[in-house]
Amino acid sequence: MKLIKYLKPYLIFALLTPLSMVGEVMVDLFQPKLMSEIVDNGVLGQDMELIIRTGVIMLILIIIGGACGVASSAFSGCASQGFAKDLREDVFRRVMSLSLQQTDKFTTGSLVTRLTTDITAVQQLVDFALRMFVRQSIMFIGGIIMMLTLNVNFGLVITVALPVEAVIVILIMRKATPLYSVTAKRMDTVNSVMQENVTGARVVKAYVREKYESDRFNDANTSLMEANLSVMKLNAVLQPLLMIVMNLSVIAVIWLGGWQVEAQEMQVGEVMAAITYLTQILHGIMMLSMMFQTVSRASASARRINEVLETEPIIKSGSSQFGSETGTVSFRNVTFSYPGSSGTPVIADLSLDIKKGESIAVLGATGSGKTSLISLIPRFYDPVEGQVLVDGVDVRDCSLEELRNKVAVVLQKSELFSGSAADNIRWGDKTASDEEVKTAAEIACADEFISEMPDGYNGMIAEKGASLSGGQKQRLSIARALLKKPEILILDDSTSALDLGTEARLRNGINEHFSETTLIIIAQRIASVKSCDRIAVLDHGRLAAVGTHEQLLKTCGVYQEIYRSQVKNGEGDEV
Ligand SMILES: Nc1ncnc2c1ncn2[C@@H]1O[C@H](COP(=O)(O)OP(=O)(O)O)[C@@H](O)[C@H]1O
Ligand SMILES: [Mg+2]
Repeated sequence: MKLIKYLKPYLIFALLTPLSMVGEVMVDLFQPKLMSEIVDNGVLGQDMELIIRTGVIMLILIIIGGACGVASSAFSGCASQGFAKDLREDVFRRVMSLSLQQTDKFTTGSLVTRLTTDITAVQQLVDFALRMFVRQSIMFIGGIIMMLTLNVNFGLVITVALPVEAVIVILIMRKATPLYSVTAKRMDTVNSVMQENVTGARVVKAYVREKYESDRFNDANTSLMEANLSVMKLNAVLQPLLMIVMNLSVIAVIWLGGWQVEAQEMQVGEVMAAITYLTQILHGIMMLSMMFQTVSRASASARRINEVLETEPIIKSGSSQFGSETGTVSFRNVTFSYPGSSGTPVIADLSLDIKKGESIAVLGATGSGKTSLISLIPRFYDPVEGQVLVDGVDVRDCSLEELRNKVAVVLQKSELFSGSAADNIRWGDKTASDEEVKTAAEIACADEFISEMPDGYNGMIAEKGASLSGGQKQRLSIARALLKKPEILILDDSTSALDLGTEARLRNGINEHFSETTLIIIAQRIASVKSCDRIAVLDHGRLAAVGTHEQLLKTCGVYQEIYRSQVKNGEGDEV
């Protein structure tokens, strides 16, 4: 119900819908009355003129009613679709603002379901409520009044039939309501499996896992079907039960009416009208039961949407201004574990000062915590203990936008987006000229393959960069980061797919054009980092040593070990 505020901008439509609905319902309510006029006074009274006159009135009313019906559908469409659009926008914005650990917890599949299926369910409720609720309430109350004006005795049938129907509806709804949360959860699973398999299609094929994965999908899909079926089973019972009650009451009306006609207290046409009203009333109950279903489905969905909307991003922007120095990074006694994981911390009591314009390498075995360490700088995560300072300010106090503008990270896994090569590079700075884009690409050694593509910088790149080689993706990602002209540039194993020659050219380019920039480089190969001002050696989340290549070779056991292993692998000459 908190979502109702999204209807505000469309209040006019939301109000016009029931208003035009009233017109339609009124017509529906008067039709049987007019019909009974025709039968009783026209047909039985043999009054042709009356038949024609009433017929024309009925026709005009039908046209008016139809027009009102069309109008109310249109208004309600405007209101509910607008509502859904605004809601989707807000949910999307919230998802974007969430911290990584939060989106991880929701899972991508579930977020997709919430943004699509769940919002549609709520939108249907809005549409349904605006049109059907008003319609059925008027039909229901109007029908009862009309029936009683025909003959008070029919009140008896209503007082018996209504409670019976109500009890049936309530009993079945109580069983069905919890099932809607179940179906929504199973929909999540189907979406998740689908998502994983589409994004990981290449790996699935390479490992010939299609069979296993389609089985996994089948399982998820089947259990979704089962959940849906159990809801449908309940519905399947509900409808016939209601129909039985309805038909029994119709018989009662005919029986009661028959007596009245016999006693000359009622006319045949009136009994006919009474039957139509009765069906309208009981039909109202049926629609009300559908309304309940839509409500319970939508409230399960609304709860899931609210869960997203009410999740406050853990990583919040601070407001402090940065100092005058640009490009220093300090870790002070930093300890970090991933949220929700226990055991030894990924980073343990690490202190390190990185000076402006310095180039520092972080070296260590896989899993030693290199990526985790640098992800603390742009605040993908916050440390558990200790402080990370950029330009002397605790990153938790800085404005997130300013901080992330200062820092450019080229992630270990390059992420590209569908669009042209130039578009992808312009992520770094959307106002950059073609000239600047080209320069950045040249420094990143990306120009050489982009200009060879048939359409050059306008050449389209497939989703997730599937049309490029690993090394090309890496160079494009670096160009993107360079265009940002960051004060701090972090390359997380971003040159791993490049040959040593290209890597050296790239590093020379960066040193030449970005000498003022603080450079943090993560690499596996000692050859890649030898020339850095300092090298920090990470061992199981601890800082083993910091120094130049020569110093470390003499003093640091871990470094010597890495060095020796790489020499043995035949890369020795290069080192
Ligand atoms: N998102 C995550 N959630 C939980 N644990 C993680 C996550 N990412 C990495 N880890 C764990 O943190 C440790 C360090 O990983 P990482 O920093 O990626 O190492 P490196 O970059 O040096 O190879 C590993 O043991 C890994 O299992
Ligand atoms: Mg890593």
